[in-house]
Amino acid sequence: MDRNLALELVRVTEGAAMAAARWMGRDDKEAADGAAVESMRRSLSFVDMAGIVKIGEGEKDQAPMLYIGETVGNGNRPEVDVAVDPIDGTRLVARGLPGGIATVALAERDTLLQTHCAYMEKLVVGPRARGVIDLRLPVRENLERIAAAEGRSVEDLTVVVLDRPRHEQLLRDIRAAGTRVKLITDGDVAGGVMAALPDRSGIDCLMGVGGAPEAVLTACAMRCIGGDMQCRLWPRDDAERAVIAAEGFDERHVFSLEELCGGHNIFFAATGITDGEMLAGVRFLGDEVRTSSVVMRSYSGTVRWMDSVHNLPQLRRRQSPFRSTGEPGPGA
Ligand code: FBP
Repeated sequence: MDRNLALELVRVTEGAAMAAARWMGRDDKEAADGAAVESMRRSLSFVDMAGIVKIGEGEKDQAPMLYIGETVGNGNRPEVDVAVDPIDGTRLVARGLPGGIATVALAERDTLLQTHCAYMEKLVVGPRARGVIDLRLPVRENLERIAAAEGRSVEDLTVVVLDRPRHEQLLRDIRAAGTRVKLITDGDVAGGVMAALPDRSGIDCLMGVGGAPEAVLTACAMRCIGGDMQCRLWPRDDAERAVIAAEGFDERHVFSLEELCGGHNIFFAATGITDGEMLAGVRFLGDEVRTSSVVMRSYSGTVRWMDSVHNLPQLRRRQSPFRSTGEPGPGA
């Protein structure tokens, strides 16, 4: 895979973000998600690859598009696993709150972890703390290890955590260590990526339970940035425990970064939908639409921050696959 597929993927996330952004704050999660999914699927079909969706919108019978197992791309080589989250932070977009992103990742075929367990416990850090974390250790010990690796005190660290009742004890433990907390209402892919870029984001670590699909997407980004991540499946009930067992997993197992995303050629792209700390949201400026994205590739470790200006009249004339993505949505 000599090509930097991430540069093609960013067109996919830009399109999805533009489509979803038309629904910002309109209190219609389904419409926002539907617009992003449709755009993403259309634009993925133009990418030179034989992709299989490993992380997608759900099972075939519930998800008409981008379902797990769906083939995407134009069928040419390389053969890849595809992870999509057309909107991470659907509620954020529907309510017009900060932090909604569109994101896609690719890796060689059969290298992304697949599970039907909905949630995972996550621990994400940046490159300097690579190799020092251990999800089996108490929270304080991990914080002390991260602080030592960062050359700072635990009081200097900031941990990002999803604001959920399930995190009460976790928050008590972090606060007892004297560490600062940043609560987010949604969007732990962006939270994880920011945790791996502490110099840029001021965030040093992500802790807590979030979506398993989001964990794999975050892992793809970590492989590109050189950060680190560990996860453990987090079944909610016996039915999910049975699912995990049938998949051959042990719920006590701590997945390493390489077990979450095992390839050597990994690509990740994300585009802001609503304004967030990591990425600006989509701006509609008449004939112009502006987007803000991040694009990564594991082979080179390059992380590109990309602001794009999309010329709508020209896209319409060229009948680009991305043509309709910046068009006003229904009722707009
Ligand atoms: P969606 O946009 O797909 O709904 O995901 C948003 C999100 O906040 C994820 O970033 C996170 O991993 C997950 O939901 C957490 O799940 P829950 O809201 O059920 O706690």
